[in-house]
Amino acid sequence: MTRVIKFGVIGCGLMGREFASAAARWLHLNDTKARPEIVAVCDLNPDLTGWFSDNVPSVTQVTDDYKALLANPDVDAVYCAVPHNLHAQMYPDILAAGKHLFGEKPFGIDAAANATITDAIHVHPDLIVRCSSEMPYFPGAQKVIDFVRQGHVGEVIEVEAAFLHSSDLNPGKPINWKRMVDVNGAYGCMGDLGMHVLHVPLRLGGRPARVAAALVNRFPTRPDGKGNVVPCETWDNATITGYMDDGWPLVLKTWRIGPGHSNTWSLRVLGTTGSAEFATANPRQWRYMRYKGGAQVWQVEDLGFQTLFPALTGGIFEFGFPDALQQMWAAYLDEIAGGDAGGFHCVTPAEATDHHAILTAALKAGVDRTVETVAYG
Ligand SMILES: NC(=O)c1ccc[n+]([C@@H]2O[C@H](COP(=O)([O-])OP(=O)(O)OC[C@H]3O[C@@H](n4cnc5c(N)ncnc54)[C@H](O)[C@@H]3O)[C@@H](O)[C@H]2O)c1
Repeated sequence: MTRVIKFGVIGCGLMGREFASAAARWLHLNDTKARPEIVAVCDLNPDLTGWFSDNVPSVTQVTDDYKALLANPDVDAVYCAVPHNLHAQMYPDILAAGKHLFGEKPFGIDAAANATITDAIHVHPDLIVRCSSEMPYFPGAQKVIDFVRQGHVGEVIEVEAAFLHSSDLNPGKPINWKRMVDVNGAYGCMGDLGMHVLHVPLRLGGRPARVAAALVNRFPTRPDGKGNVVPCETWDNATITGYMDDGWPLVLKTWRIGPGHSNTWSLRVLGTTGSAEFATANPRQWRYMRYKGGAQVWQVEDLGFQTLFPALTGGIFEFGFPDALQQMWAAYLDEIAGGDAGGFHCVTPAEATDHHAILTAALKAGVDRTVETVAYG
């Protein structure tokens, strides 16, 4: 029997509706232990909650007061997808209401906010709490992860993880909350994209002991969309270089201005006996090289729909962003139902906290132009 997990959604913007779409086509997945049903939604914007009323027949509660949603006894779990300045207030309230929590990154606007969330999690060890990060569910990313786990890499030469956006190359793009320090946070692009690039390195044991960071704010002003030009104080781009205690380097790029890249997530692992890489710019293929002396030959494999959670799509067909998102949700639902998340669980609160420690050190290193030791908890 497939268990039904009844969800409330707080924040019905871009990501809230992506979840609704993934839930609506759950029949795409074969034999999952649990499936989501969205029964309650909350947003301050009635157009967005109206979209849910129009498109999600299972919704029975629509509210602009998240505490009313949390008081709903029908809600088992909450997906909270709100701006960063609200995480530290809402996530503990969700847990206090006894609901499982799937929270959006960065899991608090800064390290102090993340500590508030962590304290609340410790009070509710019975609840399943995970943080969103979907890109590693691409089949090509899983191939790179398996390649490392199978020990093909040898001694690591370098790991690079990047997330490159490009729309902010247009200086005429109006400012939004992701470019405002008080709503997005002082991390800037690192808070927005850092969890995406750190999910896999942290999972594979890559915790840098020290970091440096090159930070860029190429366009310090932007139009506000109402005819004015206002300060744009958040960092556009960050290139973080980290160094492990045992000597290998980690390079992380969180760029809002990567010319030509609409949404490229990439992972590259270079080693003495094996190397592998994947980028969503070329979503069907991964590349790898095995080296035992002699010729150094990269191989390219075309992947189809080879997923952690089997789906009805034929194995030769292409995989895309909505599929990665649905696979991530399947991993979370599987854990709630007692499964092992298909062998690759979503970001844990401990991983989110480590990522805050790295970003906090990187921000200081970038502003002061120093190398900082990362203060893990
Ligand atoms: N996993 C990903 O790939 C990904 C992508 C984009 C954003 N995000 C994250 O998702 C979160 C939301 O980002 P988004 O792009 O969906 O933003 P968004 O602006 O599209 O949506 C946020 C919604 O929160 C609502 N909101 C604000 N205050 C509220 C309140 N007090 N009560 C109820 N609703 C309220 C807003 O009205 C808005 O509709 C952020 O943490 C962001 O970092 C994740």
